[in-house]
Amino acid sequence: MKVDNFRLQLGDKEYIPIIIGGMGVNISTTELALAAENLGGIGHISDAEVCYVCDQLFSTSYTTRKRKKYSYNANNPDKSDVYFDLEDIFEAQKTYVEHTVSQKSGNGAIFMNCMEKLTMRDASETLRARLSAAMDAGIDGLTLAAGLNLRTLDLIKDHPRFHHVKIGIIISSLRALNIFLKRAVRLQRIPDYIIVEGPLAGGHLGFSPDDWQTYDLKTIVSEVIAFLKKEELNIPVIPAGGIFTGSDAVEFLKTGSSAVQVATRFTITKESGLPDEVKQHYINAEHEEIVVNTVSPTGYPMRMLRKSPVLNYSIRPNCEGFGYLLDNKGKCGYIDAYYKALESRKEGEPMRITDQTCLCIGMAKYDCWTCGDTTWRLKETTNRMHDGSWQLPSAEDIFNDYRFSEDHTIKKPAPVEKVNS
Ligand SMILES: Cc1cc2nc3c(=O)[nH]c(=O)nc-3n(C[C@H](O)[C@H](O)[C@H](O)COP(=O)(O)O)c2cc1C
Repeated sequence: MKVDNFRLQLGDKEYIPIIIGGMGVNISTTELALAAENLGGIGHISDAEVCYVCDQLFSTSYTTRKRKKYSYNANNPDKSDVYFDLEDIFEAQKTYVEHTVSQKSGNGAIFMNCMEKLTMRDASETLRARLSAAMDAGIDGLTLAAGLNLRTLDLIKDHPRFHHVKIGIIISSLRALNIFLKRAVRLQRIPDYIIVEGPLAGGHLGFSPDDWQTYDLKTIVSEVIAFLKKEELNIPVIPAGGIFTGSDAVEFLKTGSSAVQVATRFTITKESGLPDEVKQHYINAEHEEIVVNTVSPTGYPMRMLRKSPVLNYSIRPNCEGFGYLLDNKGKCGYIDAYYKALESRKEGEPMRITDQTCLCIGMAKYDCWTCGDTTWRLKETTNRMHDGSWQLPSAEDIFNDYRFSEDHTIKKPAPVEKVNS
């Protein structure tokens, strides 16, 4: 049996049950999302640091303008003055989503991964601007991710597309689902799909740093499916985290899941936004080089390669230009860590900050090499070339391998001769 024997039904539409998960900042690019859409599946773009992403893609100047506006504050550890312009966020998000959805050419869909933990100094209003702009621009679905907020649905309940756009949530426990559903029932807006993300996923994890190893995806998924059955709620359940082969996916699809969300295997595709040399680091990584740490100022544990440059950062916080992780009081754990290290630094010695990092800059510059637990297996998925580097597969290669493979086989891309430039 293969993934292609199954279909995901969402409303009146049917999809190949493969969803490429959102990967910020611009790792899941427009091109990667469109590849899934074109093949009849679902691709995500991510709205993490959307103003910065627009600046890179469309030569806008949101970041520079914000930095200039607040330049007087650059050396001040107190960032409570620094706000995003809500119109800028709205405009950037609309531009980015329109740019993506206007290129749709298949029967699939484009969803937006929205990490609610990006509090952007004014959690509610910035989130409202991001979600409303994405809906105005024609996004097919909104996936509410890390930091799931009970009041999110209230923020957009008056939007004309509120009942038509697909809305999904990412949860890592039945408890989180239960809490969210209570609010959703009150608003008569039950989510259209539930992504259950287990402890082997990439990016931030919805578990505690001390005990993530004690959980496993299959158990959480079966608890969620049993709960929904008991409550007579017919909501598609979509597991994510560590699903490496088509046969891994089939095991879930045969036992009540409606689709799978996958990401790690797509990080090294031509369409992924990571720089090519970083993709080579991903493929070369060994299991012991993949760590879960607590350097993210979001407070969530995060999985990344131990060699990530971001782990040696001692840069001055640049919240005047960035500031995506500032909370409602203008605080971020990295600001505190930086100024503490600055104060205690002995003359002539380099700054060392080990407990926190600047994720805004780290993700923007592709210096935070976040990845799933199965990254060490990427070597199995492609060809090594004469010079020792690895061939980068296309998103279509990987999508079709998930779709058609059986017996845990992995089909490598057709080998290419490396062209010397
Ligand atoms: C490089 C990378 C970046 C990610 N970034 C995000 C993100 O910004 N927001 C999010 O909700 N999930 C993020 N994830 C999680 C994926 O969307 C997905 O749910 C998960 O990684 C699937 O597991 P797999 O990578 O083992 O296939 C990221 C995953 C990876 C590998």
